[in-house]
Amino acid sequence: MIKFWRGRAVQRVIFALLGLVLAIGLTVIPAFSQTPPNPFRVATEATFPPFEFQQGGQLTGFDIDLMRAIGKEADLNIDFRNLPFDGIIPALQARTVEAAISGMTITAERAQAISFSRPYFRAGLAIAVREDNQTIRNFEDLKGKRIAVQIGTTGALEATKIPGAVVSQFDSAALALQELINGRVEAVVNDKPVTLYAIKQAGLRRVKVVGELLTEEFYGIALPKNSPYLQLINDALGRVIESGQYDVIFRQWFGEKPPELPLVAPALKNLQESRFNWGELFYNLIVKGVPWTILLTVLSFLFGLIGGTLVAIALISPYKWLKIICRIYVDFFRGTPMLVQLFLIYFGLPGLFREIGLNIDLDRLPAALFALSLNVAAYLAEIMRGGIQSIDNGQWEACSSLGMSPVQTMHEVIFPQAFRRMLPPLGNEFITLIKDTSLAAVIGFEELFRQGQLMVATTYKAFEIYIAVALVYLVLTTLSSLVFKRLEIYMDPLHKSKQEQKA
Ligand code: ARG
Repeated sequence: MIKFWRGRAVQRVIFALLGLVLAIGLTVIPAFSQTPPNPFRVATEATFPPFEFQQGGQLTGFDIDLMRAIGKEADLNIDFRNLPFDGIIPALQARTVEAAISGMTITAERAQAISFSRPYFRAGLAIAVREDNQTIRNFEDLKGKRIAVQIGTTGALEATKIPGAVVSQFDSAALALQELINGRVEAVVNDKPVTLYAIKQAGLRRVKVVGELLTEEFYGIALPKNSPYLQLINDALGRVIESGQYDVIFRQWFGEKPPELPLVAPALKNLQESRFNWGELFYNLIVKGVPWTILLTVLSFLFGLIGGTLVAIALISPYKWLKIICRIYVDFFRGTPMLVQLFLIYFGLPGLFREIGLNIDLDRLPAALFALSLNVAAYLAEIMRGGIQSIDNGQWEACSSLGMSPVQTMHEVIFPQAFRRMLPPLGNEFITLIKDTSLAAVIGFEELFRQGQLMVATTYKAFEIYIAVALVYLVLTTLSSLVFKRLEIYMDPLHKSKQEQKA
């Protein structure tokens, strides 16, 4: 019996080992093998016409056509994935995509983190200003000016180097240009072909491009560092260029003959070290980001409390119309995404105001506070209404028979009890709000999350940085929940009477 068991045990171990080897083999071998995956996933950020954009729901543009031609040459089944521009390099590093084509400039810093194909397009940065602007003509003139850019781009990098300039960073070049039209910045630094295209083809009005190409840049197809498919892509791109297909695609989008392209981008001739250090990260997160996050949270909670109280009172008042209006308000702000509300207030309202002849402009801080407070107030109103209505009606009757006025009853009897019941949901709301302030990043507000994003955009250390950002939020939310717990204990009548007994 024992022998039999031993035999079985050995067999089991051998089978287990075989299984393990097979499993490792199956996962590791494809990573080393040269057969490209099917589909071959290619990242792009499709708000960058004429290079990549959506038209009638279809992905189109110069880059898209070029990549399809390359795919044909290399026998790849290309599958485009639309990602935010500052998420493309992290996605390549995480190997969730095999390549990226996104008007991406070959820079020495990026080449530390990823590999580039040979250059496929010659571009450069240009400055866009409003038509009536006569003072800005070159980079020099941008000193001390307000500038909008797309996050993670070479335009963003150049703009942040300009002394005294106040730079707002947006998720797309289109949003940056919108900012220029809305009059909140004086200039946009962006790739020249894209700005020109927006003006000519997309009918962007009241905007012009000044200066010649300010920098010379070359776009490359990006791949993960040491990707086994670099050679494949380069060879196919070479064939597309030499066979004349490149010419056809180029003429189709730009209506002219393509310029000569170098085999190696000049930027890669002097490689420098990418600069990431933890000290700088924590400085940016905690010293530059956290104060804004706290300010946004505390102020919008405060405004939300005031607004929420008024709305709650209106909701339990006997005035029908007031009730209906408040109900609509609460349902709207609870029933639509905060992100949409932010865009509506920041990008939508100024245009609406202008159309009706008003020149009201909301800056980022007021716009973020406005959106957050309106949203919080809607939730708080419901919490307060629920709290107040949870107190037994008999108490109102008892107070009134004691000769107390409704205001007095509310103030001295109902509210103190209701408040205790409201505290836990209020605490939840506060914690949710801390996290929601990160949405202000989309309007270029440089709070905690945006500080992290900005660092990822220049150092490409996505995992380290976002973990650090998450931890800082965790500290903030944990501290607040401790404070609310304390407050709950403090407000507890049993606790109070115990304290009194002790004293
Ligand atoms: N060429 C610039 C860069 O590499 C901007 C590219 C932006 N591309 C895009 N699809 N949004 O930084």
